[in-house]
Amino acid sequence: MTSQMSNKSPQSFTTWKDLEKHQKDISGMHMRDMFSIDTKRFERMHQTCDNLIFDYAKHRINQDTIEKLCALAEEANFPQKRADMLAGETINTTEKRAVLHTALRGSTDTALCVNGENVTAFVLQLHAKIKVISEKIRNNPQITDVISIGVGGSDLGPRLMYNALETARSGPTVHFIKNIDGQSLDTLLAKLNPKHTALLIASKTFTTLETMTCANYAKAWLSNGVNDADLSDHLFATSSAVETAEDFGIPRDHILPMRDWIGGRFSVWSSIGLPLAIAFGFDMFRDFINGAARADHHFIETPLEHNIPVLMALLGIWYRNFFDYAGHAILPYSDALSLLPGYMQQLDMESNGKYAGDTKTAPIVFGDAGTCAQHAFMQALHQSSEIVPCDFIIVARNPHAADHFQQALNANALAQSQALMEGRTNTGEPHRNFEGNRPSSTFVVPTLNAYYLGMLLAFYEHKIFIQGAIWGINSFDQWGVELGKTLAKDIIKDLETGTPSEKHDSSTSGLIRAIVNPS
Ligand code: F6P
Repeated sequence: MTSQMSNKSPQSFTTWKDLEKHQKDISGMHMRDMFSIDTKRFERMHQTCDNLIFDYAKHRINQDTIEKLCALAEEANFPQKRADMLAGETINTTEKRAVLHTALRGSTDTALCVNGENVTAFVLQLHAKIKVISEKIRNNPQITDVISIGVGGSDLGPRLMYNALETARSGPTVHFIKNIDGQSLDTLLAKLNPKHTALLIASKTFTTLETMTCANYAKAWLSNGVNDADLSDHLFATSSAVETAEDFGIPRDHILPMRDWIGGRFSVWSSIGLPLAIAFGFDMFRDFINGAARADHHFIETPLEHNIPVLMALLGIWYRNFFDYAGHAILPYSDALSLLPGYMQQLDMESNGKYAGDTKTAPIVFGDAGTCAQHAFMQALHQSSEIVPCDFIIVARNPHAADHFQQALNANALAQSQALMEGRTNTGEPHRNFEGNRPSSTFVVPTLNAYYLGMLLAFYEHKIFIQGAIWGINSFDQWGVELGKTLAKDIIKDLETGTPSEKHDSSTSGLIRAIVNPS
């Protein structure tokens, strides 16, 4: 039985109305007072998963709030929707696809078939092929550099992980081309030797304009430096469009397949994760998968009120829909995780940035590594009229840094979340007052490794799924990106001819002229 994505607005739920009333009852309370009333608040309001800690005590909630939010999840039929996803139902209704990134971590029934294919068998073959291809590249002394060309979900996950784990790199250097920017590509190619470079084209569709434009240019560069007989040794691809990739000139056994039930922004666990196996070895890619598998187990087995991604999702809904907070900040206190906010932007905003009547959906996600954020936008988070819930991510221990650096980083993270919560109003000078009562969650990751990063990313994936399920939207399509792509095709032609077509508005036409003929 497939639970339809609820056509009923969640605002019609009795639990929603109960939460609206509860918000009025609780919004006048300051978190300072909540902490002074309940000295055991932290003990009651944190969860752990394999020593990763999720603290949600600095939120404008009490135990009653959690119970009411969990009741909302129940009324939204979330448990059944979770079961439907795991059972391979076509919950991506507009594209008529299943959603099974959990299968990539071995978290689904081994008998599950999609379109007549056993999913587990596909995943096992895929991971075996990732091992073979990554070792072929790592063991080829000729290959010192790999250029991975991909955009969006075909880039953000691998690039985040490559940056995060760079100190553990043992294979070729991986360079990421993720934009149709000739300067970036030319600058990179000028530094590399085609004879020692492999080209990996990462594209589920193998049609994305940015990716294919860069891929053709890079292949021509490769061809000029490598004789024809050897060219195919330098070409690799990850794609659902295997025949198209083969037509591009990539040998069949160098093409890692994908499947429609793997969404782009949920694909780092699939063949899209090949750069990780190339850079760090397959065992570390396996650790990454295992961390996500552990998160899946927690997500599937843990009662809602203790379930980390459920709590993440419900707190997001509490502020988005009952406090009308429009933003959400991701603040990893680690340079190695500086790409995490960008990854979360796609995961959250491309999944849930969709119209749902008068129900607000995805927040505006932004962020930066701490303490950099403290010298950029934290002023606003402390004293502006806009209240932005924050996720602080702390790495407890970093073997690659002297203790006093890690302690300073983590002290700043804790200080910021405490300042946001407590505020300070007794300064006697208005401009130095902080109202506080600004909510944040804190994750403490024991150490920055593939396992815990896999767990953290999987928790966020499940958070997004839960929110979409409660809002009654499809978190797995992205029709909103199509119009811009279509319009760009026409404008490229106009820029090439220098004459804007009549169908443009006067601004677009005027700008086309100005670009073509700068005065
Ligand atoms: O951003 C739109 C999008 O379709 C993403 O969902 C996807 O990750 C990206 O473009 C790249 O698509 P492909 O892997 O097919 O090149």
